[in-house]
Amino acid sequence: MTDTHAHPIDEFRIRERPNYVSQDDEETVFRVAQESHIPLILKGPTGCGKTRFVEHMAHDLSLPLVTVSCHEDLTAADLVGRFLFRENETIWQDGPLTLAVRHGGICYLDEIVEARKDTTVTIHSLTDDRRILYVDKTGEVIPADEDFMMVLSYNPGYQSIVKDLKQSTKQRFASINFVHPPEDVEARIIASESGVDDDASRRLAEMGSKIRQLKGFGLDEGVSSRLLVYVGRLVTGGLSPVQATRHAISQTLTDEPEVLASIQDIAALYFGDLAEDNDATPEPADESARRTI
Ligand SMILES: Nc1ncnc2c1ncn2[C@@H]1O[C@H](COP(=O)(O)OP(=O)(O)O)[C@@H](O)[C@H]1O
Ligand SMILES: [Mg+2]
Repeated sequence: MTDTHAHPIDEFRIRERPNYVSQDDEETVFRVAQESHIPLILKGPTGCGKTRFVEHMAHDLSLPLVTVSCHEDLTAADLVGRFLFRENETIWQDGPLTLAVRHGGICYLDEIVEARKDTTVTIHSLTDDRRILYVDKTGEVIPADEDFMMVLSYNPGYQSIVKDLKQSTKQRFASINFVHPPEDVEARIIASESGVDDDASRRLAEMGSKIRQLKGFGLDEGVSSRLLVYVGRLVTGGLSPVQATRHAISQTLTDEPEVLASIQDIAALYFGDLAEDNDATPEPADESARRTI
């Protein structure tokens, strides 16, 4: 048999370079950790670029990226694999973790604290000096490929203490803390992800840090870069900035009319001179068709 058939891990390669604006020394830390066989936890609020960062690193290091979104029903078998019954035959199918261990690549467990504790324990033998995976169902003991790396993401903000990672798990990892980026970095993220011009992206970034100051005053977690990018994209698509902020930020983050009004006041502060209805949207001819915004 020739060796021309696709390798099972190949579908996990990232072909196009993901856009990633670096914040600090995280690329170097990731690279060195990968070479040193040290697993990583990426900590930070939702929408701050953790997933994008892993995709970017996987691309640049030419490593396949196997991502698993963790949830409370995730079983060890979902990670490791299971027997399938097909046409009177029983065949073993590697799960995502086993694929990365066997063939080399990054296994990214997104939102790890959502997973059940017994599932989390599966990764222990892989994240210490042993670097092996025990496959209970087949009795196989798989030494991790040289290129295997375990990466977890974790949002410390909204997790309750009961759902925190066990120390015995946590203390197997090095960590990179992601925070909301400084304004100049965030402006570059917004511009490169949404196509708005430099002036608009700078104002959106400033508006974002102002909105983050409402944290604790009705907002649990400040606005994410993801939502600021949404505002940029809605503006590129034709909405006015104030209108885009209402839909992508205010109405998403809060159900309290007062908090919503506070966010809109901030939007008006940065974009009020661009009158809300001054966009290119044609006025509807029929009064009853007028949008209520
Ligand atoms: N540093 C960054 N470079 C480029 N885009 C970013 C960056 N940080 C955030 N983003 C934007 O925010 C979105 C959400 O990022 P994501 O990586 O999914 O967040 P997380 O995984 O932390 O929840 C991305 O799709 C991208 O548009
Ligand atoms: Mg993510």
